[in-house]
Amino acid sequence: SETGCLSIIVLGASGDLAKKKTFPALFNLYQQGFLHPNEVHIFGYARTKISDDELRDRIRGHLFHGKGASSGQSEDASKFLLLVKYISGSYDCEEGFRLLDKAIYEHEVSTNSQEGSSRRLFYLALPPSVYPSACKMIRHFCMNKSDLGGWTRIVVEKPFGKDLDSAEALSAQIGELFDEEQIYRIDHYLGKELVQNLLVLRFANRFFLPLWNRDNIDNIQIVFREDFGTDGRGGYFDEYGIIRDIIQNHLLQVLCLVAMEKPVSLKPEHIRDEKVKVLQSVLPIADEEVVLGQYEGYKDDPTVPNDSNTPTFATVVLRIHNERWEGVPFILKAGKALNSRKAEIRIQFKEVPGDIFKCKKQGRNEFVIRLQPSEAMYMKLTVKQPGLDMSTVQSELDLSYKQRYQGVKIPEAYERLILDTIRGDQQHFVRRDELKEAWEIFTPLLHRIDNGKLKPLSYKPGSRGPVEADELLAKAGYMQTHGY
Ligand code: BG6
Repeated sequence: SETGCLSIIVLGASGDLAKKKTFPALFNLYQQGFLHPNEVHIFGYARTKISDDELRDRIRGHLFHGKGASSGQSEDASKFLLLVKYISGSYDCEEGFRLLDKAIYEHEVSTNSQEGSSRRLFYLALPPSVYPSACKMIRHFCMNKSDLGGWTRIVVEKPFGKDLDSAEALSAQIGELFDEEQIYRIDHYLGKELVQNLLVLRFANRFFLPLWNRDNIDNIQIVFREDFGTDGRGGYFDEYGIIRDIIQNHLLQVLCLVAMEKPVSLKPEHIRDEKVKVLQSVLPIADEEVVLGQYEGYKDDPTVPNDSNTPTFATVVLRIHNERWEGVPFILKAGKALNSRKAEIRIQFKEVPGDIFKCKKQGRNEFVIRLQPSEAMYMKLTVKQPGLDMSTVQSELDLSYKQRYQGVKIPEAYERLILDTIRGDQQHFVRRDELKEAWEIFTPLLHRIDNGKLKPLSYKPGSRGPVEADELLAKAGYMQTHGY
């Protein structure tokens, strides 16, 4: 809908996140025609003193996610990289930001020879400690000044603080400089295809409407596993741990979409209002419903302290105190260095009352939404074993995306989310009050871990995590089914 000059400024351009996620996502958007070369310029900004070409060379290797590129693709990459300029400067000094503003302005003047608005998108691929100063500099020196309209927006990444107080302080600092409509807090799980599908699945299908509640559902699991450790990120990770890295944000966002009531409309504010209500209804976490783990060998990383109490695994049961969910445990589980890489939602239904088939042992109905890898939804159900007698067997109704949507490319989360920031759609971004509520839920538990009152159990890399976690799961009502 909007046209005219678009400047995308990637702060922290020489860092890992920018190289691995931001620039490849921008390149994908460019290839699909969303970033038009006549309108768009991309500015990298960071402290390292390098030339435009040096930055381009650093980015190039990541554009194809480490895969080989055809000659046509390489040509595309070269054209895309010509749109990228680099400016070096620190995050707290005027000079760099004045230079940056001048470069953006020159681009705007040359692009908008006659008319058109100016759009300035600042992507902060930075550690949060520099957010406040970088935001101040942007606010003072780099805002859109066009009389013809347009906007200035900033995109920020987690971690947004370490607990409720620090997150609130950060929100207040940024909130003084920018309006909420200008701030896009990324949680990249909200950009995943099957996470976005949750809203449609729940509210566009008659099947689910009467079943999605405490009368029919026994327990819900939201699980994240990785089959590698902290691999070189130990120093960063040790300050945060698995709850801050995955559960408080990614898994909790998924929980909101699974548990929320139907929004009044698809307007971002309506959807986010419902998510906030879910968070507000979560009861305090009980220590008996938490199992923490740390994989053996985690502390061998020289950047991790020898006495680290940081969990690399956690299972936490959340209880939602409302009419729909009272008594249904939401089991959030995440771990590094486990036996597989997978993220999924498992919704386990109650047993059929008055079972005449005596098929209870075969397992309950279960609806699984696999977010990754290989996106899929499948429903475990009991059917008659084909053949002459009346015995039963558990089978699956299976919607695997690879088969059903052959040849359809599922966009990367970052690609989709960056496009939303350009379009001004905040639906898939975390609102300030949502963030606050999320921290409220986990802060007491995190403080107990930080103070050494709760300790992680040790588990073997490549395992399922501590056995105590499986025991907690069983206690919460989960009935092991085949293949899990
Ligand atoms: C990031 C975490 O937010 O998500 C990482 O900081 C984790 O520790 C990553 O590896 C997982 O993302 P995905 O999209 O691969 O599931």
